[in-house]
Amino acid sequence: MKIRKAIIPAAGYGTRLLPATKAMPKEMLPIIDKPTIQFIIEEAAASGIEEILIVTGKGKVIEDHFDSAHELEYFLEQKGKFEELRKVREFIGLADIHYIRQSERKGLGHAIHVGRKFIGGEPFAVLLGDNFFEAEPPALRQLIAGFDRFQTSILGVQTVAEDKVSRYGIVDAKPLIEDFAYVDQLIEKPPIGTIASRLAMVGRYILTPSIFDILENQPPGVGGEIQLTDALNRLLTREAVYTCEINGRWHDVGDPLGYLKAILAITGHCGNLKNDLQEEVNMLLQVDKDIPSSEQ
Ligand code: UTP
Repeated sequence: MKIRKAIIPAAGYGTRLLPATKAMPKEMLPIIDKPTIQFIIEEAAASGIEEILIVTGKGKVIEDHFDSAHELEYFLEQKGKFEELRKVREFIGLADIHYIRQSERKGLGHAIHVGRKFIGGEPFAVLLGDNFFEAEPPALRQLIAGFDRFQTSILGVQTVAEDKVSRYGIVDAKPLIEDFAYVDQLIEKPPIGTIASRLAMVGRYILTPSIFDILENQPPGVGGEIQLTDALNRLLTREAVYTCEINGRWHDVGDPLGYLKAILAITGHCGNLKNDLQEEVNMLLQVDKDIPSSEQ
């Protein structure tokens, strides 16, 4: 079966980035001039996804971004700003985008369950709205290639440093072939030193529709939230679940350091901006050296 549909959960509170996320979803925070969720839609489209459901919380800012903006386009046309016009138009219509509200923020597992009707009975993709990749082939396409081979649920993973395991869902898995492994169990944010594995889930999943029956009666877990990780642990008692180690650079923009690192990484691809930034950084560091600290 072909993977045609995807869910992007984007209804979190983004508490680690408050107050920026008070009135704007973190998925809309710009990486220089492009909102994070635009990178994700581009990845999904480049991976062959035709229909996307974005699960939203408050506000309509995501809907507005992926809609055409006639007044703005007319204005840019009149002013002869054709490069800007291209930028506001190029990502419209990359895929069919639908929206649904997660009326209560009950956790990632719940946000995915909200998409049950949209998905119907077919296997589907999930792309977390606050994680994006610099990867070729695109990260999701790597997972879809795995699904085409193994016809079972596939979790995108990458190896993280030992002192970072407590931030992620960690996968205990047996190597299978190439970048794929067979999942034995999943542990949500394990305390450092309690698990040997350093394979972290990185916000990309291919799931069989069996996950919906499991999520339907999944009790709240860590943090009182309906956790996808708990549901996946139950899924793997019913059917095989594999991991796919994604080749590429992963950005988790859900916390201040990850957000800043993503901006710097993307700056690295913007020739002039990169050089200007280098000069500015040198000056800023110089200024810091010149300011006597209060302890002196
Ligand atoms: P996170 O747990 O990283 O998002 O969820 P959060 O809760 O917004 O972040 P903090 O911890 O408060 O800073 C991962 C993804 O799942 C979505 C988020 O928007 C994010 O893209 N999510 C999470 C939902 O859509 N609904 C939820 O109930 C929870």
